[in-house]
Amino acid sequence: MMETRTDEIADGIFRISVFVPDIAPPAGFTFNQFLILGDDPLLFHTGLRKMFPLYCEAVRRLVPLDRLRWISFGHFEADECGAMNEWLAAAPNAELAHGQTGCLVSVTDMADRPPRILGDGEVVDLGRGKRVRYIDTPHTPHGWDAGLMIEESTGTLLCGDLFTQLGDGPALTDGDIVGPAILAEDIFRYSSLNPDMGLTIRGLAGHAPRTLALMHGPSFSGDGPAALRALADEYDRKAAATVSSRPASMSR
Ligand SMILES: [Fe+2]
Ligand SMILES: [Fe+2]
Repeated sequence: MMETRTDEIADGIFRISVFVPDIAPPAGFTFNQFLILGDDPLLFHTGLRKMFPLYCEAVRRLVPLDRLRWISFGHFEADECGAMNEWLAAAPNAELAHGQTGCLVSVTDMADRPPRILGDGEVVDLGRGKRVRYIDTPHTPHGWDAGLMIEESTGTLLCGDLFTQLGDGPALTDGDIVGPAILAEDIFRYSSLNPDMGLTIRGLAGHAPRTLALMHGPSFSGDGPAALRALADEYDRKAAATVSSRPASMSR
């Protein structure tokens, strides 16, 4: 029987976590949604369509569903946005918000109500001091349409699949999140290694996050820019090693 676990990981920002022991056993794997409270609450990640009842119940404990205003996510994939239409049906005042590429390529067609299209760097004011900035991160860690959000008053970067790790850790940690992320990358190979990946991740460090909210893993409190730069270095090494391991005949 799967259950949700809810923790406040930064002021007014709640992590709703489901642990699935059957994925990558024996460690298991978490799927996390984040609810940012404000006059206009925002949910980041809809969760899998088939887990909708679980998440819906957990969100309802924090905010009446008719007050939910925004539903956003990192890229078009089942765990990120599979339940978007279930949410739109349950939350009559909610609107999807996502980047230009994702809206034009997938969301506008797949969603039951038209999304709000966010430009790179665009800010949405949620009221009560909360404001989220949308940042394009194409192909990082995967998906042409990939993007993230940072809540600027708390410095909370909603990292999506970046730093994905196995296991059911604490809700919030100040320990190492780079080592476990490299381990999970080597097992799943989920990232689309590309020459701009390090640059894209280092760009996120420029927003000076103090909390990193991982979709798959604990949230991290501490030196966010240092963790992002270490992850960027690792991906630069992996991308370079992949290219240099190709026989010369393949690169012609
Ligand atoms: Fe993903
Ligand atoms: Fe994910």
